[in-house]
Amino acid sequence: MLIQSPEQLAAFDRTGLGRSDPTRRVLLCPPDHFQVADVHNVHMAGQVGAVDPAVARREWLALRATIERIGLGVETLDPAAGLADQVFVANPALLGLDRDGGPLALISRMRYASRQPEVAPLREWAERQGARLIEIPAEVPGTFEGGGDAIWHPDTWLLWGGVGPRTESAVYRHLSNTLDLPIALLNLVDERFYHLDTCLAVIDTQRAAIVRSAFDTAGLALLAAGFEELIPVDEDEARTRLAGNLYCPDRRNVLLPAGAPTTAERLRAAGLTVHEVTTDEFLKSGGSVYCMRQGICW
Ligand code: ARG
Repeated sequence: MLIQSPEQLAAFDRTGLGRSDPTRRVLLCPPDHFQVADVHNVHMAGQVGAVDPAVARREWLALRATIERIGLGVETLDPAAGLADQVFVANPALLGLDRDGGPLALISRMRYASRQPEVAPLREWAERQGARLIEIPAEVPGTFEGGGDAIWHPDTWLLWGGVGPRTESAVYRHLSNTLDLPIALLNLVDERFYHLDTCLAVIDTQRAAIVRSAFDTAGLALLAAGFEELIPVDEDEARTRLAGNLYCPDRRNVLLPAGAPTTAERLRAAGLTVHEVTTDEFLKSGGSVYCMRQGICW
């Protein structure tokens, strides 16, 4: 079922699914070949060739160290030459847990040709992990950029799906039917927030941080029905620092793009521990903390 109104969301019984999904490990891909090679979002304009590989590596190592410091294991994909965006491991699939608790991977169909070769290595990794693979059949039109646009509601058999420049609703219809999975659709209306993970970050079953201006009225109503509390990400910090791309893997610690003091303060006021992570080289590509990792729940 595709959910597009608060009434539909209210009618959906979230209880009793027996799903439990703490993030146990985090998948990363070292930035060995990271660069802004071609422009496929507004943040990348004027940045072709501008990434300093040594600085990018330092920032990535610090991100990795922060993840380890909060107690999560790290797995890495082997970076492949020529894949300039492979560091953004959130996109070529969405990992999750099936209803029976088994490993699940929804395999993406990337919008841009330069990113399409990222899919096979992540698919193979998931296959080696024994995950059930869900592929988009050829007859289903449209693209789907995995964890960039599709975000699990914590501990619930419910997916939030961003509809925008990278993912189309036909794919959500297919995934919803195939998995008998309710998917709540959110239109992305600002080109700066081109993936859902740039403007929605779930904290726990009741709370999420959002960039309000990235959504339309219907989307804001749906989010208000889905969460008891919506923590607003500061609009300037969301635009300039991708503060909305924060990552909360354990309902306690938040990894926040550095340089977002107003958002940091709001998260602290909500009782969360904030770890600022510098991702300036990755911001040149329109990505930050959340895009650079993929949570593994098995
Ligand atoms: N340069 C990448 C792209 O435009 C950045 C991807 C960021 N990923 C994300 N999940 N927001 O595809």
